[in-house]
Amino acid sequence: MPDGDTGSITVMGERPAARLPGIVALFRPHLAQLAHGTGWLLVTNLLALAVPRLVNEGIALVEGTSERGGSLLAALGLPTGRLWPVVAGIGLCALLGAATRVFSRVVLFNVGRDVERELRAETFAHLSTLSPTWYRLHNVGDVMSRLTSDMTNIRLLGGFALLNALNTVIVFAATLPIVLALDVEVALLALAPFPLVIVGAQLTARRVFARTREVQAALGELTTRVQENLAGQTVVRAFSREDAEERAFAACNLELRRRALRLARARLAFAPVGGLGALGIALALYAGGAAVTAGRLDVGDVVELSARLVQLGWPMMALGLIISVFQRGRASLLRIHELLAAQPDIVDGAVARPVLGVVEARGLTVEVAPGRVGLAALDITVERGRVLGIVGKNGSGKSTLLRALARQVPCPRGQLTLDGVDVNDWHLGALHLGVGVVPEDAFLFSDTLRDNLAFGRPDASAAEIETVVDLCDLRRDVNALPEGLATLVGERGVTLSGGQRQRVALARAILTRPALLLLDDCLSAVDSKTEANIVASLRRGFVGRDGATSAPTLLVVSHRLSAVREADEIVVLDAGRVVERGTHEALLAHGGLYAQLWGREQRRRALGADV
Ligand SMILES: Nc1ncnc2c1ncn2[C@@H]1O[C@H](COP(=O)(O)OP(=O)(O)O)[C@@H](O)[C@H]1O
Ligand SMILES: [Mg+2]
Repeated sequence: MPDGDTGSITVMGERPAARLPGIVALFRPHLAQLAHGTGWLLVTNLLALAVPRLVNEGIALVEGTSERGGSLLAALGLPTGRLWPVVAGIGLCALLGAATRVFSRVVLFNVGRDVERELRAETFAHLSTLSPTWYRLHNVGDVMSRLTSDMTNIRLLGGFALLNALNTVIVFAATLPIVLALDVEVALLALAPFPLVIVGAQLTARRVFARTREVQAALGELTTRVQENLAGQTVVRAFSREDAEERAFAACNLELRRRALRLARARLAFAPVGGLGALGIALALYAGGAAVTAGRLDVGDVVELSARLVQLGWPMMALGLIISVFQRGRASLLRIHELLAAQPDIVDGAVARPVLGVVEARGLTVEVAPGRVGLAALDITVERGRVLGIVGKNGSGKSTLLRALARQVPCPRGQLTLDGVDVNDWHLGALHLGVGVVPEDAFLFSDTLRDNLAFGRPDASAAEIETVVDLCDLRRDVNALPEGLATLVGERGVTLSGGQRQRVALARAILTRPALLLLDDCLSAVDSKTEANIVASLRRGFVGRDGATSAPTLLVVSHRLSAVREADEIVVLDAGRVVERGTHEALLAHGGLYAQLWGREQRRRALGADV
């Protein structure tokens, strides 16, 4: 592609700002499904409501009294005056009700699962927009617990709590008028304990919410501990800290149990309140008996009334559960909101085109933490295809420069350009497509070697993979593996050495054919001769995205000067500033820090050390 070509390329679309969905918003996409499930719930309740009426009619038949409320059987056009249609009716209601109950649960519980899946997907996608800074400040374990156990609470809220809440509303709305129609006086007396239940429910809700927050926080800490101990197993063993870690874990575990118990107690406090429904039944029998004596009600009516109060009993008991599950869901949603509310501090710019690899920094000053300067007033110019070597002591700002270019750390406007465009104006997808970054600590996935190599280019051909294997001096290593490229590496497979992992990470980056390659001491665990050879062959270039062989622009950080010896320019950093710059020869002639470091490296080499 000729210089200056600005043809657009396909990159991932712009992400909308993350929303903080409230509970209602979570369910909005599922209104149809909700209506469907509610329909089945209504039918289930209608069938259940018919049963006490039929019992009443049956008793009236047995007693030989006439049914004053009007016969349900007659209304349905069924034969009256005989017992068998009553019995058959009750049986049918029970059978049909069982079926529709199952339907309502299948449909409504699925809403919960869908809501959980959607929210998890949204949260996961949001996590990938957050910057490395955010990840440094947050525990992996805690984030994991939010994506797992908190999501489970959302599912229970969306399934169990929603279904039972709907059911409670339906049962109360349908039963209350019927009970009142039977006899106002008896009904009001029987329903007297209900306001107490409502007050109790509200008090419980607040406590359950607060305690759930505590439990989820403890769970987050526990997950963090597990995760760090798994990741740091070797360190724990090397320092024989197993017992201490076990004790620390036990304390964490105990704390979780303590908080879970507190939550359980808060939930349990409602159970006796929910049981007050039974008190209502006793009152109904007492007042109903008097009404029968007075001739206002039949025995059948009192039985129907009691049966209806029993039907109100479960929704009232369930109220405690609904509240607890609902409050747990609400607390979990807040924790998920905390993730969704995190704003990426590095955002997409508008420029999306192929990277050419021209780098220019003018007075580049990068703060790595508030008030802490990682780079100060840096000036560099690297033409396309050229090599810049970056050396300096630990903490001198080498990685910071590469991170600023890769847009991994925020960078002030107007100080750093790529292809003449401020890095802040680059679309992240487009930039990452053309800029390869290889860090010192290479992370590989538990997958085959081939898939690790092709991570950034799943469509890479076998020939392309062979090419990078050779380029990164991996041929012998691949041949020595039991199944070559198909060998599983990482946690569930062969453990590669540090140097092997580094070369795989480099090959993985090269396979994406970047126009700008940033090597952050990424061959530190490889011997110096191999490192120099690899850098030299990168310099000769590889087949690029346009099909032609071209050399990428290379920024090479190395603690070994031998690796940057051939660079077009070398900058020596100290405390974030360029203290010397020039070619290898010029720097040696200058006799400054570089010459000093070079001398030291040569002496160590003369003593047989591979520095
Ligand atoms: N996230 C960070 N928070 C605070 N200080 C940081 C952070 N990252 C880097 N630094 C500091 O910035 C300076 C430059 O770091 P870095 O560029 O990584 O050095 P180098 O790669 O040359 O060893 C160092 O003093 C380092 O301690
Ligand atoms: Mg570094």
